[in-house]
Amino acid sequence: MERKGQSCLLTDQVAIVTGASSGIGRAVALAFIRQGAIVVCSDLVAAPGDDQPTHELIAKEGGRGMFVKTDVSSEESMQHLVSATVKEYGRLDIIINNAGIGPEARDPKPIWESEMQSFDAVHRINVRGVFLGCKYASAQMISQEKKPGAVKAGSIINMSSILGILGKSGTPVYATAKGAVLSLTRAVAMDLGPHSIHCYSILPGCG
Ligand SMILES: NC(=O)c1ccc[n+]([C@@H]2O[C@H](COP(=O)([O-])OP(=O)(O)OC[C@H]3O[C@@H](n4cnc5c(N)ncnc54)[C@H](O)[C@@H]3O)[C@@H](O)[C@H]2O)c1
Repeated sequence: MERKGQSCLLTDQVAIVTGASSGIGRAVALAFIRQGAIVVCSDLVAAPGDDQPTHELIAKEGGRGMFVKTDVSSEESMQHLVSATVKEYGRLDIIINNAGIGPEARDPKPIWESEMQSFDAVHRINVRGVFLGCKYASAQMISQEKKPGAVKAGSIINMSSILGILGKSGTPVYATAKGAVLSLTRAVAMDLGPHSIHCYSILPGCG
C-alpha cells in the first residue's frame, strides 16, 4: 500500500506474521502494510472474540494480505502456511515468528512448583513453533531468486523477550523458552548468512 508522498520501506515484500490476530503481531502486520508489504496473517483463529480480523483491517486500509489458519507447533500447518503464501504471492521475503504464550505472566510459579505440562505446552509453541518457522521459511527463501537489486534474500525475525536474557522470578518455563529462541536465532543466522538471509531476534520488555 503506497501512500502519496511517503517513502515505503517494504514495497511488495511478502511477509508472514504468526500470531497476527492480536497484540504485537497485529500491530506489526498493520505497520508492515503501511510500509507497502503484502502481509499473510497467521494464527489459530482470525480474531479473538468480537474483534475485527487483522486481514480485514488490512483490506480496509487498502493493503494486500490474507489469513491462513495456522498452529505454529504443527509441522504440517507451518509447511502449509509457507506453501499457501508462495501459491498466492509467488515468494516469501520476511517471516515474523511472533506467536507465543506465557501462562506465568498471570500465574507465576517458582521452579519447584512448575508443571511439566505447562513446560511442554509453552515450549511447543514458543520454541518448536519458531524452529518450524525458521526451517520452512529459510528453505523457501534459499530456493527462490533474490529480488533484482535487493541486498538481502530474506529476513527472519524471531520474537524473544528480555526475560530470555534476564530471567525473572516465577517464570522459569517462559524464560527458558525465550532463551532458546535467542540461541536458535544465532545458529540460524550463521547458517543463513552465506545465503544473504538475515535472522534477528526482538526482545520486548515491560517495566
Ligand atoms: N506483550 C509483551 O509485553 C511481550 C513482552 C515480551 C515478549 N513478548 C512476546 O511477543 C509475542 C506476542 O506477544 P503478545 O503480547 O502480542 O501476545 P498475544 O497473546 O496478544 O498474541 C499472541 C498471539 O499468538 C497466537 N497463538 C498462540 N498460540 C498459537 C499457535 N499454537 N499457533 C498460532 N498462533 C498462536 C494467539 O492466538 C495470539 O493471537 C509473544 O511471543 C510474546 O512472548 C511479548
